[in-house]
Formats: sequence, structure tokens, C-alpha cells
Amino acid sequence: MRIKYTISIVFFVALVIIEKENNIISRVSDKLTLKQTPQTPLQPSGFSHILLKHNGSFTSHSKLDSAFTLMKRRLEDYSQHQEAVTGGRKHILLLATTRTGSSFVGEFFNQQGDNMFYLFEPLWHVEKMLTLETGGTNATAAVKAYRNVLQQLFLCDFSQLESFIDPLPVDHITAALFRRESSSSLCEESVCSPFIRGVFERYHCRTRRCGPLNLTMASESCLQKEHRAIKSVRVRQLENLRPLAEDPRLDVKFIQLVRDPRAVLASRMVAFAAKYKNWKQWAMDGEVPIDDDEVRKLKGNCDNIRMSAEIGLRQPPWLRRRYMLVRYEDIARFPMRKATEMYRFTGIPFTPQVKSWILKNTQASKETSGVYSTQKNSSEQVEKWRFTLPFKIAQVVQKVCGPTLKLFGYKFVSSEEMLTDKSISLIEDKVFNFL
Ligand SMILES: *[C@@H]1O[C@H](CO)[C@@H](O)[C@H](O)[C@H]1NC(C)=O
Ligand SMILES: *[C@@H]1O[C@H](CO)[C@@H](O)[C@H](O)[C@H]1NC(C)=O
Ligand SMILES: *[C@@H]1O[C@H](CO)[C@@H](O)[C@H](O)[C@H]1NC(C)=O
Ligand SMILES: *[C@@H]1O[C@H](CO)[C@@H](O)[C@H](O)[C@H]1NC(C)=O
Repeated sequence: MRIKYTISIVFFVALVIIEKENNIISRVSDKLTLKQTPQTPLQPSGFSHILLKHNGSFTSHSKLDSAFTLMKRRLEDYSQHQEAVTGGRKHILLLATTRTGSSFVGEFFNQQGDNMFYLFEPLWHVEKMLTLETGGTNATAAVKAYRNVLQQLFLCDFSQLESFIDPLPVDHITAALFRRESSSSLCEESVCSPFIRGVFERYHCRTRRCGPLNLTMASESCLQKEHRAIKSVRVRQLENLRPLAEDPRLDVKFIQLVRDPRAVLASRMVAFAAKYKNWKQWAMDGEVPIDDDEVRKLKGNCDNIRMSAEIGLRQPPWLRRRYMLVRYEDIARFPMRKATEMYRFTGIPFTPQVKSWILKNTQASKETSGVYSTQKNSSEQVEKWRFTLPFKIAQVVQKVCGPTLKLFGYKFVSSEEMLTDKSISLIEDKVFNFL
């Protein structure tokens, strides 16, 4: 009796899953009016009728087996169908905060080759414009603008972004795109309009002499590429991007890059010295006013990062197979292994160009370079903060970012000696993704 009851529950659940799946498929196909291939039948097959006929009271195990086989095949059909919708095209969003090595990790995708359209921090313009207009106080407006711009850019549509570029582009031409040269896609031959001496006083690409960016050309080039990747340090909450994950035109893969908040603070105190002058003062005084706005901001940042990761790691249906968490420290120590994992997650081939770029850029380099440089001995960089951040400040970070440190596996230090003892690793081995 008990067994029969359990079996009927199992099949009821299975039926619900199949029905849901069919609904999703028909919704998707309604929107896109796809040509359906005959080998992937999208209408309910014989499965539901088996269930109904047997009224929840199965007697034969072979029937059970065949029902499961059918269910499995239909789930496979469903994932193949997803492929068909986006044509295998992947949309990678690298989410991070400043000083987490996101320029470096962004290069993993920028270097991929002719298949990839990569954009470096397009939301810079959006943040700048909104800060000018509203003092940056309208969080709702920012969330909406970031989401819309990202969604359009993944579809190679630059029009929303254009409206945020200052000065406003004329005839879709701009000389003001932030860090254009950081995107090799925007400096390719096909996106390189002639450089006219005297009209604009500087070149706009490192590798070749290009004039200002023609965004129509950029869009055309984007449409030719198989995959698209965007790096951004400006998205606060992963949940705000749910509509992108659910957009049937996109196959979005979110990669969240995190780093020990103590190291991030140490790095920001150097890179953004003026903005972090209070912290420098506190570091010298050895006293931190714990209720200061700056400390509250630090806590807010940590909480946002943690909450995004918690949602991602929980893998709700809208994020299934779409979220990967990566620690900067793991990338710095095992760049090739982590890059391989990231590429496996995205479903894009890991090209020899990327491999050789990583090899070249993770070994010691004698060249000294600016704060945004990606050319550093990355293993060495991981530990550097432990000798520059005063123990007092580390304690404050541990206090306000405690849950974040715990989630990502960063060990607390209990004394100055422990902080600066290199034989004690502060990074726990941790596996986050079950892909
Ligand atoms: C199926 O279930 C209905 C309602 O529970 C019952 O009336 C009917 O006799 C069942 N049929 C079979 C074939 O067991
Ligand atoms: C904030 O932005 C939203 C969405 O654009 C808008 O509806 C709202 O009026 C704005 N609020 C303020 C205070 O400007
Ligand atoms: C920008 O590129 C488009 C597409 O190639 C072209 O039609 C247009 O004339 C270009 N604009 C200018 C001002 O050169
Ligand atoms: C980079 O730094 C690490 C740690 O100090 C060291 O073990 C390694 O040999 C360095 N790599 C190179 C290529 O110098």
C-alpha cells in the first residue's frame, strides 16, 4: 500500500515537471516562432497518457523503467531545444567589485579570439550619468538602467548605452567610450574607422590607429560574433538580473568573482588613496570609529556580495547551470585550472590564445606597471595585503564582513602575528560549484 502510494506521488511529480517543461517550451516558441525540428517533438508525447491510464497504481517495474527513460529523453530534448533558441550562443556576465582582479579575469574572455565580443565596464557610463543627474541616490533607477543596458548589449544593441554616453554620440560616433582599448573587439579592423589627424587629438586603440568609435560598426561586429561577454563591477545584486536569465533570447552565464574583503580594502587604500583617506588616517591612529559611514558602506558592500552569492549557490530554478562563484585567490594560485573550469562552465571552447595569454601573464614580470595592471606574479600578489593592512583594520573588516568571510572560506586572524605569518594560509580549500 505504502509503496504504491509513494510510486503514485513520484509519478504525479514527474507529470507536473513534464507539464511545466511543455509550458516553458511553448511559451518560448510562441515568442520566437522557431522552426521546430522533427526530431525534437515539443508536444506532449505518449508519456502523460501512460500515467493517466494507470491511474497512479503501477504494477510493473518495466513500465516504471520505460516511463523514466521517456522522461529522461524529454528532458534532454528540452536542453537541446534551449540550444536551438540561442543557437549555442553564450552570454557571459563577469560580476565583481573593484580590486578583485576582474580586469585580469576579463582578459580570459577578451583573449578568446574571433568568436567573442567582449565589453569592458560599459556600465561606467550609466553610473556616471546617474550620479551626475541624481547624486547617485536613486537605487531603483540604477538597477533598471543597468539591467536594460546589459540586456540590450547582449543583443548587440547599443542604443540605451548611447543615451548615457557624455557627450552624447552624434550619428552613433563617439570618442568618449570608457576604456575602449580594453576590448579587443572594439579595436578590430572591422570596427576601426579611419583616424583623421587634427579632428581628434588621440588614437582610440592601442593596436592600431583608429578614429572615434562608430557604434553602428560595433553593433554589426557584435552580431557576427558567436559569443558575448561583459565585465562589470557595478551590479549590486544578482537577483536584479533575473530578467536576463529568463530572457529566451539569451543564454546567460553569470560568473561572480570574489576576493577576501581585507585584501580588497588594502588594495583600495592604495589605488583610490584620496577616497580612502579616512581609512589611512584610522590605520595610522590605530582607531576606527565603527559607526562611521565608511564602515557602514564596507558592510553594505560585503552584504551585497554575500547575498548575491547565497542566491547563486542556492541554485534556484532561474539560475540553474547559470551561476559560478570564483575566488580571486584561486585564480591567482591556479590560473590555468580555474580558467579551464570557467570555460567548461560557459560551454565555450578554451582556445590556445587564452592559454598562452594566461601563461604569459601569470609569471613574474620585471615590468612595473600601473594600478590596473594585470601583469604581476599573481601568486605573490595574493598575500601582499597581509603586510600592508594594519591588524586593527583587519579586525574591523572581520567584524563587519564576518559572514562574507565565512561563506567564501577566508580565515579570521586573531593576532598581528597570525596576520603576518605566511606559513599560515588564510584561504580554506573550498568547492562552491556542483556543475
Ligand atoms: C482510477 O481512479 C478513479 C478515482 O480515484 C477510480 O474511480 C477508478 O476506478 C480508477 N480506475 C482504475 C482503472 O483503477
Ligand atoms: C527613481 O527612479 C524611478 C525609476 O526610474 C522613478 O520612477 C522614480 O521617480 C525615481 N525617484 C526619484 C526620487 O527620483
Ligand atoms: C558608421 O558605420 C556605418 C556602418 O558601417 C556606416 O553606414 C556609417 O556611414 C558610419 N558612420 C560614419 C559617420 O562614418
Ligand atoms: C611568484 O611568486 C611565488 C611566491 O612568492 C614564487 O613561489 C614563484 O616562484 C614566483 N613565480 C615566478 C615565475 O617568479
